[in-house]
Amino acid sequence: MLLRLLRVHLRPYLGPLSVVLVLQLVQAVANLFLPSLNADLIDDGVARGDTGVILRLGTVMLGVTLVQVVCAVGAVWAGARVAMSVGRDVRGAVFDHVQTFSARELGHFGAPSLITRTTNDVQQVQMVVFMILTIVVAAPVMMVGGVVMALREDVRLSGLLLVVVPVLMALLGFAIARMRPLFGQMQTRIDRINRVLREQITGIRVVRAFVRDAHERERFGDANAELMRVAVAVGRLMALVFPSVFLIMNLSSAAVLWFGAGRVEDGSMQVGSLVAFLSYLMQILMSVMMAVMMFMMVPRAEVSAERISAVLGTSSTVVPPARPVTAPVTGRVELRGAGFAYPGADEPVLRAVDLVAEPGRTTAIIGSTGAGKTTLLQTIPRLYDVTAGQVLLDGVDVRDLALEDVWRRIGLVPQRPFLFSGTVADNLRYGDADASDDDLWDALEVAQAAEFVRAMGGLEAAVTQGGSNVSGGQRQRLAIARALVRRPAVYLFDDAFSALDLATDAALRTALAPRTREATVIVVAQRVSTIRHADQILVLDDGAVVGRGTHDELLATSETYREIVESQITAEEMA
Ligand SMILES: Nc1ncnc2c1ncn2[C@@H]1O[C@H](COP(=O)(O)OP(=O)(O)OP(=O)(O)O)[C@@H](O)[C@H]1O
Ligand SMILES: [Mg+2]
Repeated sequence: MLLRLLRVHLRPYLGPLSVVLVLQLVQAVANLFLPSLNADLIDDGVARGDTGVILRLGTVMLGVTLVQVVCAVGAVWAGARVAMSVGRDVRGAVFDHVQTFSARELGHFGAPSLITRTTNDVQQVQMVVFMILTIVVAAPVMMVGGVVMALREDVRLSGLLLVVVPVLMALLGFAIARMRPLFGQMQTRIDRINRVLREQITGIRVVRAFVRDAHERERFGDANAELMRVAVAVGRLMALVFPSVFLIMNLSSAAVLWFGAGRVEDGSMQVGSLVAFLSYLMQILMSVMMAVMMFMMVPRAEVSAERISAVLGTSSTVVPPARPVTAPVTGRVELRGAGFAYPGADEPVLRAVDLVAEPGRTTAIIGSTGAGKTTLLQTIPRLYDVTAGQVLLDGVDVRDLALEDVWRRIGLVPQRPFLFSGTVADNLRYGDADASDDDLWDALEVAQAAEFVRAMGGLEAAVTQGGSNVSGGQRQRLAIARALVRRPAVYLFDDAFSALDLATDAALRTALAPRTREATVIVVAQRVSTIRHADQILVLDDGAVVGRGTHDELLATSETYREIVESQITAEEMA
């Protein structure tokens, strides 16, 4: 997974990538020559008191060091650039892909997990790319080169390597095997923290109102503690590994000095060689450690890469048509035997719904809560695709129209309107990016929102994320204005008047009438007074149409409709 992800996203950086690898190679080779130069300097210069040799070799060493430093710095700089660019690209790819998801896929992953995947998981991958770039060349060169150079200095002493390197590898291998599963857990626990946190922040008022602080604190505490437990388990392994590695390193230097001293004494080895040998031993062990560190990070990045690929590999169930049909815009909406079941649910939420909404007419949908009204509206702009039957827009199945084409024809005011952080004007221009200020004010007047927008400070007044700085009714009116700015052929109002008082509701409907005269209007409402003048009213019960007609016809024919009307009359009389 990691490899596949990287293969795709490293491709644009092959140029800088090869620069990094060459710089690393030069750097590692330069590093290899230093101890052997140092050995010559000691044996031929210091031991014989030859200042000429010392100066000459010293200058060479200085030059080699300079080359090494420049290459090392360059490699890290270029490597970091490549890694960060790859991170940016993957993040962008995930973000773009998530934008294509329908409500179904969003529900499958859940927003918190999608957020972790786009941020933390991408960061893991980015980090490992940087590590690989730093280590993948340097470590093998240092390891193999180190062994060769050590053999050149002294063959007998090199026997030590046969003991030390396997011991180190066994130790590190053990640690890695234990750590691998922990990293998988870590990511899902970060997900969980995000989920709990997000829920609590969005629901903070509810939490306060129901005095659930303690309960929520406990819930967060649990999630937090669980993450800590995994992190501690990982930390404990690390705490074991690093001292052990240093122990092995120090023990082996002691062994080199112990055996080497004997060989220097009996004249079969020179002091310089011994010093050089020590340096090579350290380089070899360092390279083993670097390689191991990489292997330690790879599993975590592997898990992250899998989570990222899962997002990238999921395609939206709302598929754009291969060959979109174009149709003249009339605004006619028709549902033919439309059925829908939420994924994983046994019971359908919509059953064989037939509906024809003509331009210039208002179609109302009424029904008890949970009847499927919102679901019905959402099938029209393809927020969900029907699972049975057909939805037609302007005589064409919506699945055969280009998605943009569908959306352009429809102005939806959702039941829970969402506003974006920015200004009032920004939000209204989601309806139509090219709308003039006059258009915006016009829409606000119709939506009965002009007054409070003026009080807020006009079109440039700030709106916070989700629209939390305006009241529920104001948010609804802004959402209505946003739909009006678009001037669509089809208006879908999902309970859009519910948060308005009766007077505002009436004023809005009066102002709306001339604006929507040509358009198809479908209104979902709870209040009978909102819809009694509609051209046709559908009564929805448990996903099925149980009555249709005008207000008067329904009073005569539909038991369910009469019940709804009666319940509201009594409620009003009692109030
Ligand atoms: N995302 C979802 N996943 C699964 N089931 C869902 C989902 N959304 C709604 N439902 C179910 O579908 C049914 C119809 O929901 P819907 O939102 O369409 O009702 P509604 O008529 O709009 O109700 P209300 O008047 O309260 O807005 C409900 O029983 C609900 O439990
Ligand atoms: Mg609803």
